[in-house]
Amino acid sequence: MNRDRFIVFEGPDGVGKSTILNEVAGRLRARGDDVLTTREPGGSPAAEAMRTTLLTPEVGDASALSQLLLITAARVAHWEQTIAPALRCQRWVLCDRHLDSSVVYQCRLGGVPVATLEQINHAAGVRLAPLRIFLEVDERTAWSRLQNRAEGNRFDPTHGQQWQRLADAYRWCRTQYPQGAVVVDAAAEVDIVAARCHQVIEEWQ
Ligand code: TYD
Repeated sequence: MNRDRFIVFEGPDGVGKSTILNEVAGRLRARGDDVLTTREPGGSPAAEAMRTTLLTPEVGDASALSQLLLITAARVAHWEQTIAPALRCQRWVLCDRHLDSSVVYQCRLGGVPVATLEQINHAAGVRLAPLRIFLEVDERTAWSRLQNRAEGNRFDPTHGQQWQRLADAYRWCRTQYPQGAVVVDAAAEVDIVAARCHQVIEEWQ
């Protein structure tokens, strides 16, 4: 299985993951590369249907383990229907959130033991992407970006303490799984942050 060109963008809400991901995709396309942009949960017809279910308020009452199983089901469908076929065609796949988000939301915040997540991933054949770009900003910058967002979802932090827990959980996740993890300071202008990410990819390639 070719995972070489699979890059994931991670970070707490408000760091600008989707904006930066699209900018980086534009830079890779400008040099003639074939790029697929996608997201989790979702990213394929089956996985998008599971995403809709996941974001309903009723599912919010289910345990973190139950939600993790649904997210993993979506992740497997996403891999099979979208990511693996694109990688087989030598395309770049840039993905907005992936496995690290499960470590953060379902394990660190939700209380599912990491060992359980690892067992589920092992059984399902889910692995970390070979390059994971973690975008980092300070809390103030994140809140001002979140305020400009059109719509949120039930996972969004509602106050600063919650956002800090998210940011801490991402730092913990990088320490726990350092292989392929790169931190990029995302507090600057979009162009500058995208250029930094592009440089990370070129150096890693
Ligand atoms: P999304 O709508 O992409 O939110 P954002 O714009 O903040 O990136 O994702 C929906 C939510 O799903 C997101 O807030 C976090 C949550 N999530 C998990 O809880 N676990 C996961 O493994 C993933 C991928 C996302």
